[in-house]
Amino acid sequence: MKKLIAGNWKMNGSAASNAALVQALLSGSSDWQCLVAVCVPAPYLAQVRGLVAGTGIDLGAQDVSQHESGAFTGEVSASMLQDCGARYAIVGHSERRQYHGETDAVVAAKAQRALASGITPIVCVGETLAEREAGRTEEVVKRQLAAVIHANGHCISEIVVAYEPVWAIGTGKTASPVQAQQVHAVLRAQLRAASAQADRVHILYGGSMNAANAVQLLSQADIDGGLVGGASLKAADFLSIIAAAQ
Ligand code: PGA
Repeated sequence: MKKLIAGNWKMNGSAASNAALVQALLSGSSDWQCLVAVCVPAPYLAQVRGLVAGTGIDLGAQDVSQHESGAFTGEVSASMLQDCGARYAIVGHSERRQYHGETDAVVAAKAQRALASGITPIVCVGETLAEREAGRTEEVVKRQLAAVIHANGHCISEIVVAYEPVWAIGTGKTASPVQAQQVHAVLRAQLRAASAQADRVHILYGGSMNAANAVQLLSQADIDGGLVGGASLKAADFLSIIAAAQ
């Protein structure tokens, strides 16, 4: 399977800097041997859709509402994302679980909404440092993924999973390739138990992935790509990660 490298711009960017970043990414050839996406802030979906149209870069959002439509001020629905050309939507990022109180059930409902609108949810799971130190990593990631499997049944082969240890996000601390592979293997087994198509599911690693560590991480058996935060904001770094995935 082709690897998938998805940038998560988080709450960064401006119309001017987005245009410069995408142009820099496309300045070489964009005829990549892997899948590439950028998950941008909602107000810039339309802008970036125009910038990436007809290129090797797909468009993604960073969140989606669990509701279909109606009186939910400030929320963005899956059908709106689809209208704006999004192929992917991140759901359950640890920053949303932590700062916006998103529970496993909410994350599962968001994944369901995305799938119903033809958008691939990038479902994030991951343990905190305290959970890892307490030996609870497997239990936590399995619980988080189980909620999404339970809500989505046989559609589960249509999702992307991102394993993002919370202690590795934005900290410069990366899970070692072996540590990451161990968790990816657990997630793969859980997906296999739920679906005969589990081997189609991309399981991305995220958490301080950069140009220096990408090759080793991406060479692990069950690491099918990366969800890249900080390094996706610098064209040269993101391009090195893309190169490492080919
Ligand atoms: P990071 O973020 O690469 O800056 O650690 C990854 C993420 O949060 O998706």
